[in-house]
Amino acid sequence: MSQFTLSVNGETRSIDIAGDTPLLWVLRDHLQLVGSKFGCGIGQCGACTVHLDGEPTRACITPVSDIGQRKITTIEGLSANGEHPLQIAWRELDVPQCGYCQAGQIMTAAALLKKSPRPSDQEIDAELEGNLCRCGTYLRIRAGIHRAAE
Ligand code: FES
Repeated sequence: MSQFTLSVNGETRSIDIAGDTPLLWVLRDHLQLVGSKFGCGIGQCGACTVHLDGEPTRACITPVSDIGQRKITTIEGLSANGEHPLQIAWRELDVPQCGYCQAGQIMTAAALLKKSPRPSDQEIDAELEGNLCRCGTYLRIRAGIHRAAE
């Protein structure tokens, strides 16, 4: 066990835990931030995507000891009261079906909009290709990103 001090959604959180513990478990089991989901556990589906210093990152394969001073943002910290333009667009367009993958989709999309405020379909598809949706909501996800970019 080691002591880690993490910046999570703008708050400083200290935790005593094994350094190889994946960030996803720290968030979900120790900090009760359960918006980030466990899908595959091997970095392949994107359900666990959070931001580290704004970069989309697979929390399921990121050991807590690798985080250092980087700032962690989860879906809970993306905006105050769920009012990020993507979250508004997701509601307006009923983007989710089962919803399980959508936090990861939104976190990846939010990082995309930061670097490309009006992304093309091609940019969206390229950026989100690692975020899988078993319900096949890809066209609505794309529409939601365009709506948020307006
Ligand atoms: Fe992390 Fe699938 S649960 S990428």
